[in-house]
Amino acid sequence: MSDIETLDYKEFGKYLRDDKVLADIEQDNIEREINLIGPSVGKLLYIVCKMIGAKKVLELGTANGYSTIWLAKAVGPGGQVIGMEYDPPTAEIAIGNFKKAGVSDIASVVIGDAMKYIKESQETFDLIFMDIEKEDYTTSLPDCVRLLRPGGVLFVDNVAFVTAGDFNDVLNSHPELETSFISGQFISHAPDEDAISISIKKK
Ligand SMILES: C[S@@+](CC[C@H](N)C(=O)[O-])C[C@H]1O[C@@H](n2cnc3c(N)ncnc32)[C@H](O)[C@@H]1O
Repeated sequence: MSDIETLDYKEFGKYLRDDKVLADIEQDNIEREINLIGPSVGKLLYIVCKMIGAKKVLELGTANGYSTIWLAKAVGPGGQVIGMEYDPPTAEIAIGNFKKAGVSDIASVVIGDAMKYIKESQETFDLIFMDIEKEDYTTSLPDCVRLLRPGGVLFVDNVAFVTAGDFNDVLNSHPELETSFISGQFISHAPDEDAISISIKKK
């Protein structure tokens, strides 16, 4: 057992909330009870996009557009983020939030089933962010891998959910991916204690 004293993870929140629209969505969400990624995972997603020079991103599970806005800010003008949300009223809130954040030219939301969309799509993406029902993660994986460019990234939320357990095994042993799992306490993430995975598609 280590005797090193560490800061409480919430201390780092002060470094992550410099965007009013995102902070407002986090606040609004306390009432709506949508499970958002929060600012520490959001900023990580943003940085990963920047690191690989992502310009075209697919998001499975947009909700009210919080993570989509992080992605849109990362790809910037000329980039494209396609969000998927099957609940129409929630998708409408996302569209309103894109306007408030000034990213309507970059981010859009397709209202419908992400599983159907990825099955039919022939597009290529630099990064795919997966945040739908955890029971669907394993089924969606082959299409996600197919739609990623070589060197593209699959970023998955909530992999500490018990319902994602089988998925983690499949993801970790996928022959076309190299994966790391990061578990910890994430600020304003639902739940605070969870894990994410980041995979790169082999070239
Ligand atoms: C955890 S929330 C997404 C949160 C969002 N990614 C964020 O962090 O800001 C999951 C959303 O995915 C939607 N969803 C779940 N399964 C879906 C599917 N198969 N197709 C489209 N939307 C789905 C739900 O309606 C819900 O709004």
